[in-house]
Amino acid sequence: MSMLAKKLILLFFISGFLINYQIVLAGEDVQNSKFIMLGAVKYAKNCAVCHGKIAQGSPNWHEPDASGNYPPPPLDGSGHTWHHSKKVLTMVIKGGGKPMGGQMPAFGDKLSDKDINSIIAWLQSHWPEKILNTWKSNYPEK
Ligand code: HEC
Repeated sequence: MSMLAKKLILLFFISGFLINYQIVLAGEDVQNSKFIMLGAVKYAKNCAVCHGKIAQGSPNWHEPDASGNYPPPPLDGSGHTWHHSKKVLTMVIKGGGKPMGGQMPAFGDKLSDKDINSIIAWLQSHWPEKILNTWKSNYPEK
């Protein structure tokens, strides 16, 4: 085989590899954004009524209302949601606020683990980068 033919074959393999690699990466991105889109849909259906369309919460969420209940807090990174590990966030969503004397309904029977994970992913896509990075280093176990 000539030197040139060898080079061409090698080039073919390398470029094939690069093309495949790019497809894999693009595939992951597409899957990631599909997952976040699922979260957006599930959030809009189940959570937006209380926590707001873009998870902004009630303006006076840190003060109890006339009956002593706290209004829905923001989940967009401006409140303290990022002080909780994913385990705790999942527990709150599944079990609601009642076990802690709160008002939030439980979603454990309504939403699958995938639904809940996708909602958390959608919420986190709204968190400022710095807050998300702090959360990630505080809870490396995810
Ligand atoms: C009926 C209103 C209501 C609905 C619907 C609701 N929440 Fe809540 N949520 C609250 C209230 C009120 C609190 C504050 C704690 C409490 O009173 O239970 C809260 C607290 C939370 C917290 C804790 C936040 C923090 O910063 O500590 C998370 C997380 C949360 N909600 C997520 C969700 C998600 C996700 C959904 C949809 C699957 C949802 N909530 C649906 C009212 C609601």
